[in-house]
Amino acid sequence: MIRVRGMHKSYRTGKLVTPVLHGVDLDVADGEMVSIVGPSGSGKSTLLHAIGGLDRDYEGTIEVDGRDLRAMSDVELSAYRNRHVGFVFQAFNLLHHQTCVENVALPALFARGEGMLSREQALDRAREVLGRVDLHDKVDALPTTLSGGQRQRVAIARALFNRPRLMLCDEPTGNLDSVMGKAIIELFRRLNEEDGITLVVVTHDPKIAASTQRTVRVQDGLVLEGAGDALEAEAAAAENSSNTADAEASAEGSADPESADVPEDPADAPAQEALA
Ligand SMILES: Nc1ncnc2c1ncn2[C@@H]1O[C@H](COP(=O)(O)OP(=O)(O)O)[C@@H](O)[C@H]1O
Ligand SMILES: [Mg+2]
Repeated sequence: MIRVRGMHKSYRTGKLVTPVLHGVDLDVADGEMVSIVGPSGSGKSTLLHAIGGLDRDYEGTIEVDGRDLRAMSDVELSAYRNRHVGFVFQAFNLLHHQTCVENVALPALFARGEGMLSREQALDRAREVLGRVDLHDKVDALPTTLSGGQRQRVAIARALFNRPRLMLCDEPTGNLDSVMGKAIIELFRRLNEEDGITLVVVTHDPKIAASTQRTVRVQDGLVLEGAGDALEAEAAAAENSSNTADAEASAEGSADPESADVPEDPADAPAQEALA
């Protein structure tokens, strides 16, 4: 379960501050397959990176299975990234002079510490996950001899290597034609349905978005739609009760601290673009 609350993020370059996320709330339940859509520059990748533990420089909280990512030590966070999460990006990022099986096993071949696999075990498991993405016959091929769709499947196999429960995919079909893109989405659906992997897929492709169980719409650094059932019910209830809030407040007094007027936090004000 992913639970994002009040996430704010700005990029700082020298004295230039670029606010990107302005209080994102989002839930993703275990076993869901969710797409994230929104205009370029709206903060989708920023959000995905933070959920994946690639970035801890934000305000607000991101909890995964009840654990606050920012409260984790560096060691815990890297274990989370390596064991819990599989990343798939638009660029396949394969090593051209290594075979497919070596590309998939590579992270394990360099891994140190407990639970380490031997070279043979790592290569065996890499063959197994290449089979899972229907590339049994490309195990010893070089990535340069493969189509774009096949290369992306090698990258997906690499992401699957450590048996992640969560896959975070950033424009995974952005470099593929629509036929290959469709095959990738079919594969994601299988991983979701058969292996129970939770998938969060950022995409520009309306067909992909339509094929997921839920579409999260991000715009201008906020989730406009599809934040999750509980959050959407909350928002609807708040909308309803705002109509009757005055009457209730005078009848019962203001017992609920949440409903009290909170002075606006100056930190929430949009940062000046240039402070220089
Ligand atoms: N490392 C960075 N430094 C400064 N600005 C960044 C950085 N990464 C992204 N941005 C800016 O943050 C905004 C959101 O970027 P991003 O999350 O990549 O959006 P999306 O994935 O929705 O296209 C953009 O305006 C982008 O230029
Ligand atoms: Mg992006």
